[in-house]
Amino acid sequence: MAKMWAGRFQKEENSEVNDFNSSISFDGRMYESDILGSIAHATMLGQKGIISKDDSNLICKTLLEILSDIKEGKLMLDPEAEDIHMFVEAELTNRIGEVGKRLHTSRSRNDQVALDIRIELKKDILEIISLTKNLLKSILNLAENNKETIMPGYTHLQRAQPITYANYLLAYGYMLKRDIERLNDTYKRMNYSPLGSCALAGTTYDIDREFVAKKLEFDGIVMNSLDGVSDRDSVVELASNISILMMHLSRFSEEIILHCSWEFKFIELDDAYSTGSSIMPQKKNPDIAELVRGKTGRCYGNLIALLTMLKALPLAYNKDMQEDKEAIFDSVDTVKDCLKIFAPMLDTIKVNKENMRNAAAKGFINATDLADYLVKKGMAFRSAYKISGSLVAYCIENNTVLENLSLDVYKKYSDLFDKDLYDYINLEVCTFKRTSQGASGIKSVELQIEDLKKVL
Ligand code: ARG
Repeated sequence: MAKMWAGRFQKEENSEVNDFNSSISFDGRMYESDILGSIAHATMLGQKGIISKDDSNLICKTLLEILSDIKEGKLMLDPEAEDIHMFVEAELTNRIGEVGKRLHTSRSRNDQVALDIRIELKKDILEIISLTKNLLKSILNLAENNKETIMPGYTHLQRAQPITYANYLLAYGYMLKRDIERLNDTYKRMNYSPLGSCALAGTTYDIDREFVAKKLEFDGIVMNSLDGVSDRDSVVELASNISILMMHLSRFSEEIILHCSWEFKFIELDDAYSTGSSIMPQKKNPDIAELVRGKTGRCYGNLIALLTMLKALPLAYNKDMQEDKEAIFDSVDTVKDCLKIFAPMLDTIKVNKENMRNAAAKGFINATDLADYLVKKGMAFRSAYKISGSLVAYCIENNTVLENLSLDVYKKYSDLFDKDLYDYINLEVCTFKRTSQGASGIKSVELQIEDLKKVL
């Protein structure tokens, strides 16, 4: 295909160069954003008398036809085209000749692509937010049903203190809340139109940048023309938001994988959301959670690729920037896929409350409470801590647990111990008396659920 710039060149482009340069295989997905951007631009050119009203109308009408033809599969993107911008413009000129050639007045692909990526990613951000909210909903449902499900809480992956499954789940709820906030923040900073920056220096035409921005539902314009074409901050921000969100999902996944192992057996995944093994008949594998965990790596990779691509890049536009798209689109697609599958996986989880409680009953998970008992009776915490530790050691030596020691044994360690200690170290009591804000106590959990529902 003859190039747009054939006038300046004596030779045709080498076909391998064309392939190497071409981005249509990955920027083709922006066709709608590109066309809507062009319609706004052409409308403005007509309003300002830079092109005639008739030409402007014909361009807009034809662009809409091209848009619906692509949507309906009547018009295929040409893989030979250099990029989606060139493709749409060439198609427009095919259809309406000379008039089509007026569209690119007072515009460059540099501000065009900067505009397109923002229009495109704004839609993506809204979708990611809505999918994250769906997952949050699933978490809240599961929490609602497990307000009284006791499990061991861990530090260092050692049983630490008893918690409820609800309180555990809500930790992930709050992570997602922050993810949503971050996405909203990035959306706000992304929501400025760079169109009118032109190649890098603005233009001599009397354009109306605010008009275009408003028509495309931006909050305003990117003020500096060099910044307008060379800034990809919001792309990096989005890749970073996605990386953090994926990091959360990977931690959750890791625990789902652990929790459905035979060693834990805290939960069971639904058959529809598990896979079997081709050789070991007994297996039921948590592939979804593993894949989410694994895919987190590629999102981190995309973030680093973007940062490195932009590092020390001189102003203004450089072709390096074309590399932003594969990276960010891959992150966007990956996180959407993960969120879509995660929610129903959680919705269908079976919780083994028995096993969770049994695990919490072992491991001297109430040793802190035993110390607190002495503190409430007047002892200093450090001294109480020491006595509780000695009693744990005694239990380990005698292969028993704190609940089963006789009062006589307790008395040998401190005469502050009395019959009421057994109530105090009872697992349910230990769990539910933690009523401080954010704790596992039922009221505290209910307040958290209410708080997170506001996000929805
Ligand atoms: N496909 C290019 C990109 O994604 C469009 C901008 C090209 N501009 C240029 N001056 N070659 O960055």
